[in-house]
Amino acid sequence: MADSEMNEDVQVGGDMMHVPFRVNDEQVVCHIAGHETLLAVLRDQLGVTEVKYGCGEGACGACVVLVDGKAMASCLTLCASVENADIMTVKAPDPSGLWALLQDRFAAHEAAQCGFCSPGLLASCFALIQRGEKLTRQQIREALSGHICRCTGYHHIVDAVEEVMALWPVMS
Ligand code: FES
Ligand code: FES
Repeated sequence: MADSEMNEDVQVGGDMMHVPFRVNDEQVVCHIAGHETLLAVLRDQLGVTEVKYGCGEGACGACVVLVDGKAMASCLTLCASVENADIMTVKAPDPSGLWALLQDRFAAHEAAQCGFCSPGLLASCFALIQRGEKLTRQQIREALSGHICRCTGYHHIVDAVEEVMALWPVMS
């Protein structure tokens, strides 16, 4: 986002700026340099370590979070661009129950083994399922193709997502 588009809440001083946003329903204001990524600020400044650093270049999906409901790689997202946004991770308050259902079905299908890929994957699954689409197994694979999992072979992940997709419209 260009400086001219930024909300007046963003205060720029030299190369540093104050950027307000919400993380898992908590209001924060971060003092950042313009080049800092959302991933770096979440992990290093705010201690949101459930968001993982994998490749740092948008290729593995480990760092995916929800930004105003949209799944985004936080390693490719400038923190300055999320002013006043709602950031959600797998630890977000869960009034809908969808985070809990996803985690429960991931556990039941052994779709999380070492667990490194899981927070990012779950964020993408959350966004996908909230859209209410019914996808085939192949479409689920394609929708999650930005995520690398070194443990599961993906089959278990697709099993879990397929089951949640079948359950969710009934439960929501
Ligand atoms: S750490 Fe962001 S996509 Fe790999
Ligand atoms: S469960 Fe280990 S990388 Fe996916």
